[in-house]
Amino acid sequence: MAEAPQKNLAMEIVRITEAAALASGRWLGRGDKDAGDGAAVEAMRVVLSSLNIDGLVVIGEGEKDNAPMLANGEKIGSGRGPQLDVAVDPVEGTSLLAYGRPNAISVLSVAPRGSMYNPGPSFYMQKLVVGNEARNAVDLDAPVRVNLANIAKALGKKVEDLVVFVLDKPRHKQLIADIREAGARIQLQTDGDVIGGLMAADPRSEVDVMMGTGGTPEGVLTACALKGMNGEILARLDPQSYVEKDAIEEAGIDMREILCCDTLVKSDDCFFAATGISGGDFLHGVRYSARHTVTHSLVLRGKTGTLRYVESFHDMDRLAKISAVKY
Ligand code: FBP
Repeated sequence: MAEAPQKNLAMEIVRITEAAALASGRWLGRGDKDAGDGAAVEAMRVVLSSLNIDGLVVIGEGEKDNAPMLANGEKIGSGRGPQLDVAVDPVEGTSLLAYGRPNAISVLSVAPRGSMYNPGPSFYMQKLVVGNEARNAVDLDAPVRVNLANIAKALGKKVEDLVVFVLDKPRHKQLIADIREAGARIQLQTDGDVIGGLMAADPRSEVDVMMGTGGTPEGVLTACALKGMNGEILARLDPQSYVEKDAIEEAGIDMREILCCDTLVKSDDCFFAATGISGGDFLHGVRYSARHTVTHSLVLRGKTGTLRYVESFHDMDRLAKISAVKY
């Protein structure tokens, strides 16, 4: 395996998600998904180029939605420093941002070169995410009611006390019915299953578990974060069209394999940063005031399990004079 990141990159990568949030926060509720995403991508590109890493984008957002992108296979960083895989989603929840809904975030993760799972032509995967206390209580093939009973037991709660985060999609009709039948409560959100996974893993959040099918790239990003939170993700590719299924088969990828944190990111030496764009319970959105613009971020280091919440006060007038980013 390539050279591991020797230094703590946590505070360096959070500058990148902050820049993306600052640039895209202006697009809150303006109904233009591509403009919000484009602003975030542009800001990320500029700040990333100053980072002393030899980065390779393994997870780049865009192909599924035809969004502007930091493309898979793109080299990023100054080229000096550790060889790293990079997973990035400049705006996770482009519709959340465009329609002014909570929980749009900017996300970036790095890990030693060759350690991140490459989704290939897979767009969707089934996911089950829990925090540390319930990490040994889940089985992707068990019925929903069994998983919920085991999670509740591990958390010392009743099933009725649990909150399950589920994306509000037609494909989850049966899943939602099964959760209701089991008696648990549900937090339904239109988008944003990375934050769903973060909330499931954080004991301070009311969400206890995330279930359902979402993006494969988002699954890898979630796994990077869970490394630092000691949570677990169980996942399996779940193509949503024949075209996707055929492409996965053609690529020789085993669709039955159950993936977990350690197969989605093979090294613990990873870093994860997320900055809130639209406000939410978990991360505040970008707040503009006369003097400063304030961002709220979460930074995680896989190796040590250190979790930091970072509130940054940006002087936009000064930044405008020295930064190549248009905020
Ligand atoms: P974007 O950032 O690309 O808008 O993704 C938002 C999201 O909701 C993800 O959180 C989730 O994994 C995926 O889309 C689900 O895809 P779909 O909306 O096609 O079901």
